[in-house]
Amino acid sequence: MNLRKKIEELKKEKNAIILAHYYQIPEIQEIADYVGDSLGLSQKASETDADVIVFAGVHFMAETAKILNPSKKVLLPDLDAGCSLADSCPPDAFEEFVKLHPDHIVITYVNCSAEIKALTDIVCTSSNALKIVESVPENQPIIFAPDRNLGKYIMQKTGRDMLLWDGSCLVHEAFSMEKLLALHKEYPNYKIIAHPESEEHILKTATYIGSTAGMMEYVKSHPEGKFIVATEAGILHKMQEEVPTAELVPAPAKEDNTCACSECAFMKMNTLQKLYECLLNEDPQIHIAEDIQKNALAPIERMLELSK
Ligand code: 13P
Ligand code: SF4
Repeated sequence: MNLRKKIEELKKEKNAIILAHYYQIPEIQEIADYVGDSLGLSQKASETDADVIVFAGVHFMAETAKILNPSKKVLLPDLDAGCSLADSCPPDAFEEFVKLHPDHIVITYVNCSAEIKALTDIVCTSSNALKIVESVPENQPIIFAPDRNLGKYIMQKTGRDMLLWDGSCLVHEAFSMEKLLALHKEYPNYKIIAHPESEEHILKTATYIGSTAGMMEYVKSHPEGKFIVATEAGILHKMQEEVPTAELVPAPAKEDNTCACSECAFMKMNTLQKLYECLLNEDPQIHIAEDIQKNALAPIERMLELSK
């Protein structure tokens, strides 16, 4: 029996759901029950009546699903699938930082650990960061963590000042401006669309800035469009499938790698074989200490409520 069929059978037998991020390898996106961005994936995780959630994404995403579903089994095909952005915000240092600014409300981007979420007032994703920040009264000081690029972008959009944590994503900071401009010369009719985790100079070149789901919607609304896509290259698979008439080119990375694009090594750790094995063995599983889970739940629920 092929792997895909075996996964389908196990899924039925165990009443499991497979949630996958747009950056996953095509084989995983194809077998998933739902493919989406961080917000969509959190919403699906909060609604599901499955007993087992296989999270084909990175650790903080699976943790978010577990925080929302403490009694369900949440599996991650490779426990080492971390995130450079989440790693850039260690809990001890962040706790000290928050203590130094007791009058500030804490908004954290979902790309952080459960411990950081437990120190947070409201979680946000790149889909709803603007809305969440705008929901806070103007005279209320804000700490925004961990992504400095998204933070700066939201500050520019809202015109309000926020205290930023100095974290970033290695993948979105790997785009080369020089190569991007050279590529744009080669494809002058292409519009640049970018994820807000990218640096300011890259965002300045973009016609559209948004989350992975936002970029997907933008391309869908311009089916004859031609785009240079500045986010992790895994999204091109689904984008091309959804909009076959669009012409898509990945934005180039500084370092030459196999695809000359930007790939997240953590996202690519999950394979179909690992997904099958984790569903079969119900391992690796996500476990979170009860106090952390409880404290991290309220800021995620606040986000989901504000995103309705
Ligand atoms: P979104 O899919 O929510 O836009 O986030 C991108 C990302 O980098 C996830 O790690
Ligand atoms: Fe983290 Fe960046 Fe990978 Fe997203 S692309 S999971 S932010 S390292």
